[in-house]
Amino acid sequence: MAKDIVCSGVRPTGNLHLGNYFGALRNFVRMQDEYDCYFFVADYHSLTTHPTPGSIYNDASAILAAYLAAGLDPERCTIYLQSDLPETAELYLFLNMNAYLGELERVTSFKDKVRQNPNNVNAGLLTYPTLMAADILIHRATRVPVGKDQEQHLEMTRTYAQRFNTMYGSELFPLPQAVGSPAGLVKIPALNGSGKMGKSEGEASTIFLTDEPSVIRKKVMKAKSDSGPTEPNQKKPEEIENLFALLRAVSTEETVRHFDELYNNCTIRYGDLKKQLADDMVAFVEPLRQRIVELRADSEGLRRVMDMGREKAHESAKRTLDEVRRIIGYRH
Ligand code: TYM
Repeated sequence: MAKDIVCSGVRPTGNLHLGNYFGALRNFVRMQDEYDCYFFVADYHSLTTHPTPGSIYNDASAILAAYLAAGLDPERCTIYLQSDLPETAELYLFLNMNAYLGELERVTSFKDKVRQNPNNVNAGLLTYPTLMAADILIHRATRVPVGKDQEQHLEMTRTYAQRFNTMYGSELFPLPQAVGSPAGLVKIPALNGSGKMGKSEGEASTIFLTDEPSVIRKKVMKAKSDSGPTEPNQKKPEEIENLFALLRAVSTEETVRHFDELYNNCTIRYGDLKKQLADDMVAFVEPLRQRIVELRADSEGLRRVMDMGREKAHESAKRTLDEVRRIIGYRH
């Protein structure tokens, strides 16, 4: 029986951080042997924020190096740059013809971007979900490993897939599902007490896979906490719950249990918790950081991985696009 198809990507807007790792990359690595996987660097998507020509390739290489450092193997899955697959852009065009202004304007990430940056509301930003749908549907993927923040985009992908199928009376596109860890889709919080880890909450609140140990320690020690619980078994406020969520990501169960007990009997010292969290984050990130540095130094090697991925991704994309063109009624 044919394997299920998996597809996902990361936007190259800086180095990868722990949110990207636990929300997406860790699952990419887990899935590469079980499914037919396509993992790309979303370097078309990054154009919505107008990077300079000089930074595009460099930023994409940084993501690719992190993919490899985390354990993705170009022999076991397809790793490529989104911009090496122009078939995606053509499918995006077709999907946009049936994507409506009202539904695009209601997307939470679009509304957030408009609020943050009212002077850069371009059509690419508005149609971000159709490009994302094209990424996924070009390989007819059924499973998409992503963090919790991408749930709505996946819902829209299903809408566009279903709309195309209904419109043309076809069954070409499966309806893809967002997948996370066995416990569900993950949200890694920022260190500032609220929001999710990522560029928009600021670099001081985000632990990058390229951060040196001293940088990690400094960021973690400054993380937001409060004056401590005053009653046994009190509900944790958001900033404390977030520290525990980070601890659960990088520390052992025993460590988490230990600090939970201290919290519940009101003897916790947040300085101790943060020190442990920083130690465990450093232990987790440092091997990855070192591998990323080595891989980035081998620009030829990275280029070979990109070339190999382009070929494999192209075969799959062409199969879908030939079908789409035929179904729409273009000369075959
Ligand atoms: P991006 O680049 O913002 O993030 C890449 C992946 O990392 C996850 N993620 C998180 N997960 C948990 N906690 C966090 N704090 C956190 N921050 C980021 C995201 O959920 C995502 O899985 N639109 C996508 C890129 C994309 C894509 C696609 C993904 C383009 N086309 C097709 C899947 C399929 C994005 O901007 O992710």
